[in-house]
Amino acid sequence: MAPGRLRVVPDTPALAEAAAGEFLSIGAEAIRSAGRFTVALAGGNTPRLAYERIAATWRDAPDGPLDWSRVQLFWGDERYVPRDDPQSNYRMAREALIVRVPVPADNIHPAPTDLPDPREAAARYEATIRGIFRLVTGGVPRFDLVLLGMGADGHTASLFPGTEALDATERLTAAVHVSALDSWRITLTLPVLNRAANVIFLVSGADKAPTLRAVVEGPAAAPPLPAQRVLPESGSLTWIADRDAAPWAG
Ligand code: 6PG
Repeated sequence: MAPGRLRVVPDTPALAEAAAGEFLSIGAEAIRSAGRFTVALAGGNTPRLAYERIAATWRDAPDGPLDWSRVQLFWGDERYVPRDDPQSNYRMAREALIVRVPVPADNIHPAPTDLPDPREAAARYEATIRGIFRLVTGGVPRFDLVLLGMGADGHTASLFPGTEALDATERLTAAVHVSALDSWRITLTLPVLNRAANVIFLVSGADKAPTLRAVVEGPAAAPPLPAQRVLPESGSLTWIADRDAAPWAG
């Protein structure tokens, strides 16, 4: 069993509620202890409802209203499309969360997707991260929270099985050409994910159940699935799954 916590909830609304609660609680603690909350948002479809719940409930959070002026928003990965493209993870989070909360524009750090070369965009995203975290050369940022999704193939962020980004240990970001999708992506790399103080996977749907069970219970595949390689060195690992994605866990 991977060293993590599996939370099984009945359905997608409950998954969104649980995710929102964790986000607001981790955020309040980060701001309390360090004066800011750094979070890498997940892309795809599953997080949308969670972002909407965060936007709807942050004022009444148990720890008091989240101070958005102290929140720094990043993305765990991005499709290499314009920001107004329906496929954009930035656009999804903007619609579901950003336009509904008072987060300052200067605190929003999407991966750039407007450069001719995705590799240059990844490098620019890395420079932004290094600047906000005030990293020395070779430093790895410790996000307070990294939200992740997972595909049925075990990919997470844009770390897909068999892609070289999985072995990018010297970089914080990578540009990935996903041949199965014939598209470019920008992604945070495993060293960043595994440095986080809190990692939360949001997993919904029966199609992911076999893969999620392999990730949660092992054994690791050979080679390990990308999601099996997310093992925070000194942080918490949580999977929030609806019952369809974790039927074995009741
Ligand atoms: C993306 C994601 C990706 C996603 C999984 C699950 O940009 O697509 O970062 O890793 O989290 O593919 O996607 P769903 O939530 O849509 O099932």
